[in-house]
Amino acid sequence: MKQYLLEPRDSAPSEIVLHEVDPRPLKAGEVSVRIEASSLNYRDLLMKSGLSASGGSDPVVPLSDGSGVIDEVTGDAGDWKVGDKVALTFFRDWQAGRFDMAYHGAARGGSCDGVLAESVVAPAHSLVKVPGYLSTREAATLPCAAVTAWHAMMERGHPVGPGDTVLCLGTGGVSIFALQMAKAAGAKVILTSGSDEKLARARSLGADETINYRTTPDWDREVHRLTEKRGVDAVIEVGGPGTLEKSMNSVAAGGFISLIGVLTGFAPPETSLFPLVKKNVDLQGIYVGSREMFLRMLSFFEQHQIRPVIDGTFSFEEASGAYARLEGAQHLGKIVIEH
Ligand SMILES: NC(=O)c1ccc[n+]([C@@H]2O[C@H](COP(=O)([O-])OP(=O)(O)OC[C@H]3O[C@@H](n4cnc5c(N)ncnc54)[C@H](OP(=O)(O)O)[C@@H]3O)[C@@H](O)[C@H]2O)c1
Repeated sequence: MKQYLLEPRDSAPSEIVLHEVDPRPLKAGEVSVRIEASSLNYRDLLMKSGLSASGGSDPVVPLSDGSGVIDEVTGDAGDWKVGDKVALTFFRDWQAGRFDMAYHGAARGGSCDGVLAESVVAPAHSLVKVPGYLSTREAATLPCAAVTAWHAMMERGHPVGPGDTVLCLGTGGVSIFALQMAKAAGAKVILTSGSDEKLARARSLGADETINYRTTPDWDREVHRLTEKRGVDAVIEVGGPGTLEKSMNSVAAGGFISLIGVLTGFAPPETSLFPLVKKNVDLQGIYVGSREMFLRMLSFFEQHQIRPVIDGTFSFEEASGAYARLEGAQHLGKIVIEH
């Protein structure tokens, strides 16, 4: 079978290289999944450039997010059967409960093999069943970005609902999922982007208010104006050190900021964190989520018939084109590879 490896290069970004390998025989408690689709996350660019914390020096099968059909099971693989439509979890072993640092040892496409392959062998506990209304092409977009957005809004603090206003930064995978889920939950959404064209698209997807952060660099003031000086109840913070100050200015007293991303890098915050104290704001770190969170999110998706927004699809052979599309940041939502 064919699989890609992300191969480190001495003084350059890693490269994805296609190999022909023999499928590994199953061990007890494992299933084999014929991957039908995978999708990319910003993290996969960090992995390729060597900036991700979860990368090692050995080649690894890239990409955390994939979906497909079970084509082989072992006797002790629970209720799974050949033909089941499944998606893989981001953390192979975080099934439920509080996070444990040991889970970082098996983050797919980083510290363990990912899904950019024709077939993947996985422990039976690291899969979820895909609801019937979603295709594997759609389900492949969910394990990282969607679970992160769900965890950030629904699993900690108070779940977002009617009467709340959520601020989403940019139009990448996490932010567009956050927009869709917040709207389905009955909340208002303010969304920023550097592109007016993308803002128009976000409005058609339900965003109530939009701000161009390039033409309105003081977008926190605009958030204040739009919320009649109250601020938003939740910020889906994917920017990091370069946006945190404005996110802190944008959040309402008693609200929360879910700290997710590093689009502006890994440097320390550029500002005092005291506004969090003054406003009784919760700052919560979010790292994807557990299998149980994934399952709760899928029920919510099914209840609201949410469909992922797919920007474009590349063939397995054109996987490097999918990386280039993500790197160009012209996309809105998710980029998919069909295997
Ligand atoms: N902690 C976690 O578990 C977790 C999980 C998933 C992702 N992340 C992180 O979250 C971030 C987003 O990931 P993703 O996969 O959704 O990214 P993505 O799909 O690549 O989206 C990136 C988009 O963010 C917007 N953007 C870029 N710089 C921005 C800035 N300074 N301010 C506001 N928006 C900006 C741009 O949208 P516009 O063109 O519309 O401006 C860009 O297209 C990344 O840093 C990623 O590493 C963390």
